Amino acid sequence: MTDRRSFLKTSAVAVSVLALTQSGSAFASDNEGYKGIVYTKENPGQWAKKVGSHAPVVTVKGSEVTVETKHPMSEAHYIVRHTLVLADGTVIGGKTFTPKDKPVSTYTLPAGYKGDLYATSFCNLHDFWLTEVKA
Ligand SMILES: [Fe+2]
Repeated sequence: MTDRRSFLKTSAVAVSVLALTQSGSAFASDNEGYKGIVYTKENPGQWAKKVGSHAPVVTVKGSEVTVETKHPMSEAHYIVRHTLVLADGTVIGGKTFTPKDKPVSTYTLPAGYKGDLYATSFCNLHDFWLTEVKA
């Protein structure tokens, strides 16, 4: 239950942060102000040794987007959820995982969308991660 509350609290902060980035500026490379809240490959903070298994890997093929977290899944330690958000804050989708799932999710972009994409991944032990890519 604590993990879910933490996740919801962290997610609410992250969504608020993303909603404020209306300009489409490079958020992932400019998250110095969100230390300890949002972790990225560029700014992993306390989790510097966890980048490879926590920063979501995003693959864009046309309008199809795949988000994968290369993280082991067990009852004690697993990826809880992914989301995909456009630069204007539009949430394209999300997927909640159980410890038995593989932490991979797929999404379809709006027709003709070109711009920034924000993929998030939440680990029950290592917090909230963000990867930004261009579509
Ligand atoms: Fe983890």
